[in-house]
Amino acid sequence: MSNKQHTLFVCTTCASTWQDGKRVGESGGQQLLQQLQELAQNWELRNNFPIQGVECMSACNRSCVIAFAAQDKLTYLFGDLPVDSSAEAILQCASQYYAKPDGSLPWSERPQALKKGILAKIPPLN
Ligand code: FES
Repeated sequence: MSNKQHTLFVCTTCASTWQDGKRVGESGGQQLLQQLQELAQNWELRNNFPIQGVECMSACNRSCVIAFAAQDKLTYLFGDLPVDSSAEAILQCASQYYAKPDGSLPWSERPQALKKGILAKIPPLN
């Protein structure tokens, strides 16, 4: 078990509906965050891998967008995640990320929903 700090970031402004310059209703990103939080109640890593909503990770045309980040690990940004069918795959991929000392998530090992939408893989600080 790792005791490094991990975070799953979820963009809450992705897939928003705009009317007259204002956001209306619940965004796709907020819905995805809620689904993840509900699903995570039964996730073995719920106390080790916090899920945090954030406003925009600058990949707005690839919504929905999430990121995995942890101390001394690669940082990954993923997009093109459908609101209604991604939560399970995201937590599964988060578990894989958690289990790897450097966080590496090779294409062949990632769940189907996270195979194509990779937007960034950023090296650790050290
Ligand atoms: S609105 Fe989600 S990345 Fe910009």
